[in-house]
Amino acid sequence: MVEIEIDGKTVEVPEGSMVMHAANKLGIFVPHFCYHKKLSIAANCRMCLVEVEKAPKPMPACATPVSNGMKVHTHSPKAVAAQKSVMEFLLINHPLDCPICDQGGECLLQDLSVGYGGSKSRYDVEKRVVFHKPLGPLISAEEMTRCIHCTRCVRFGQEVAGIMELGMAGRGEHSEIMSFVGQSVDSEVSGNMIDICPVGALTSKPFRYSARTWELSRRRSVSPHDSLGANIVAQVKQGEVLRVVPMENESINECWLSDRDRFSYEGLRSEDRLTRPMVRRDGQWQVTDWRSALDQAALSLGAARVDHGGDSIGALAAPFATFEELYLTQKLVRGLGSDNVDFRLRQTEFGIDEHGKGAPWLGLPIADLSELADVLLVGSTVRKDHPLIAVRLRVAATQHGLQVHLLHAADDDLAMPVASRVITGPQSWRSELLGVLASVLAERGLAAPAALADALSGVQPSENQRALGRVLCASERAAVLLGNAASSHPQASDLLRIAAAIGDAAGCASGVLGAAANSVGGYLAGATPRALGAVAARALAATGRDAARQLDEVRRAYLLLHADPATDFANGAQAMKAFGGADAVVALTSYTSPELLEVASVLLPVAPFTETAGSFVNAEGRLQSFNGVVMPLGETRPAWKVLRVLANLLEVGGFDYESVEDVRAEALLGSVAADASGVAIADSLVSGESRVSVFEGHLSNQVDGPLSCAPMADCQAGQLQRLGEVPIYAGDPIVRRAPSLQATRDARRSEVATLHPDSLAALGLTDGDRVLLGSADAGDEWTLSADVHLAPGVVRVPAAVAGSIGLGTPFGPLSVRKL
Ligand code: SF4
Ligand code: SF4
Ligand code: FES
Repeated sequence: MVEIEIDGKTVEVPEGSMVMHAANKLGIFVPHFCYHKKLSIAANCRMCLVEVEKAPKPMPACATPVSNGMKVHTHSPKAVAAQKSVMEFLLINHPLDCPICDQGGECLLQDLSVGYGGSKSRYDVEKRVVFHKPLGPLISAEEMTRCIHCTRCVRFGQEVAGIMELGMAGRGEHSEIMSFVGQSVDSEVSGNMIDICPVGALTSKPFRYSARTWELSRRRSVSPHDSLGANIVAQVKQGEVLRVVPMENESINECWLSDRDRFSYEGLRSEDRLTRPMVRRDGQWQVTDWRSALDQAALSLGAARVDHGGDSIGALAAPFATFEELYLTQKLVRGLGSDNVDFRLRQTEFGIDEHGKGAPWLGLPIADLSELADVLLVGSTVRKDHPLIAVRLRVAATQHGLQVHLLHAADDDLAMPVASRVITGPQSWRSELLGVLASVLAERGLAAPAALADALSGVQPSENQRALGRVLCASERAAVLLGNAASSHPQASDLLRIAAAIGDAAGCASGVLGAAANSVGGYLAGATPRALGAVAARALAATGRDAARQLDEVRRAYLLLHADPATDFANGAQAMKAFGGADAVVALTSYTSPELLEVASVLLPVAPFTETAGSFVNAEGRLQSFNGVVMPLGETRPAWKVLRVLANLLEVGGFDYESVEDVRAEALLGSVAADASGVAIADSLVSGESRVSVFEGHLSNQVDGPLSCAPMADCQAGQLQRLGEVPIYAGDPIVRRAPSLQATRDARRSEVATLHPDSLAALGLTDGDRVLLGSADAGDEWTLSADVHLAPGVVRVPAAVAGSIGLGTPFGPLSVRKL
């Protein structure tokens, strides 16, 4: 450690620290623009000049290393004179835009010019003007004259987003920030450039000119779009969310947000919002009042129970519903005598229900991802599925030597170094992972676990698998992580079982990244046929049907929560058929869609996450509660209240909750233990505290028994294995309705089906051909595009988009026929 003195106060900082770090530790503010704690040091704005005793001239605090006994003055006359001179230079060409500038009121330059700027400029020749730059639908660069060339945006692209999309061209007065040859900025985390730009050069295109910062109320919330649970601040004006920015949480999202978290709020006011209850009478939809709609809903569910028994009712809730909503949904249907409840709508295999030991989770705290030395990603397009987890891995890989290994059907550009990769069709993932397990066991000199002995007999690891086994065994901090494609894979429970066995044998972590806000929370809320935790004791005889079986064995009545039949299920075609064949479908939903209007019988408008209170349990098992940030739109009501009234109408007991906290308290009962000092922690969770590791006894990636999934069907002539991932901007109804996100290059990419050029040639097809892709159920027309990054024999057709609904499950052989 090094001891230095700043403004008369002494502080100890690690060797190699800069004066800026020491000042921050003391809480002394040094004016700065280009310095950012998460970016490399550029030292190009010179605003942070400070006086260092014995140095002949002022030094930049952000780039001056500390040395023992150093004495620094940040506000001495010499330091302030230097800072004022820099400010005078910065303002030479700066426009007098503050009254109309989107950054006004939250601008670092504006703030600092009050303290350090002169009242008059000595520069009286013509000012320079910088032409605007088109950067795509999310970032506005209309006013680049405001740019102060701090290069934060450039460094963010290089160091955090992993792709340098902006650069500085020209020298001196001709320097300009621009994208490469007029390209747009397409990174999935690009919106952070808006936050880190200290001036109003890069601003939010969707938000631009819609409000001044002082008109906005700021309310904390949690993002529902992936399993991270990024902390957000929703900025609200007149009851409408107008902007979303990150709430810094070093353990979760650091100071970043993905574009999906940031810009999806646009979908909250979509024209598709259901704002009044509707019932179908004589085949016609009628808007009605809440009382009639609830009566109709209760009548439908009650009639199914009376006429056909409780088992004739099914409940399917989206995994981005709140923990409390999921808990009440399962409690309601169980109260009606049914265990047919599930939230894993995109999953296709459910062996975990029988053999799993708990809720599958990440297997380590999110923050520990930054400390990993080796990670094996299985079936994960991590950059698009979990943009901020990818940011952690990327920074670890580029700055701390993390080795990333990949097993997937697509060798996408992860914008980070990949140490080794096996790119093969989904039908081979299980055997590939078994090879790695065999190699790890051999490396450790261990016998095969009894349950996996049969599966491992005769497995001869390939050279690559042996190398991977050696890496995992030798690594001090390794993890095997299953991505979204692995979770919805037809052998999902086997993949989990093998990954856990690798983790056990190699002594490393293993887990699942989780697709949605409550991918872990749904299990803990008991919203599965074979409930876990506290709910298990109250569940019925575990005869319930999982999501796929509920569609296979059509129920008389369904209760849907936040789930769109076509786009929120693994097999949209099958969901449409099942709901179409039911007597009644009661949908609690924030949005209508043509498909929902086709199959539902009652539509009850319930609040999206911004209009209700609730909780999400993220991938690491952290329960995060939030309150509504705006009033419910129109006649929308919070879903927990609607479920409470439905239960009362159906005379299901135990629904006398007065607040969402009452629901949370009951749902947590028995799921969380006391902490190390014996203090019950449920109370602190109910009151909104965010703590990790409270569900420890209920989180587990262990799966008992031998491998139990059937082999995947082989392709016949003219067929290819489908890789059906959910594109980044199609995962939930809010994102799907956010116009700016839908205008991005990522959204447009999901309009074509891609396959390896060799597969294309083998089928006698060429790039751009229109084809009919078909499964056993049906088919859809697609345009083909060659992509050398895909495994041969695989066709990547996105799920959850309009053209793929007829294709059935996300995995399995698809026939390809030229039109
Ligand atoms: Fe004013 Fe800041 Fe906008 Fe410049 S960037 S015009 S200083 S608000
Ligand atoms: Fe800095 Fe903003 Fe200019 Fe980028 S656009 S260099 S972040 S001022
Ligand atoms: Fe130190 Fe810019 S903040 S030179």
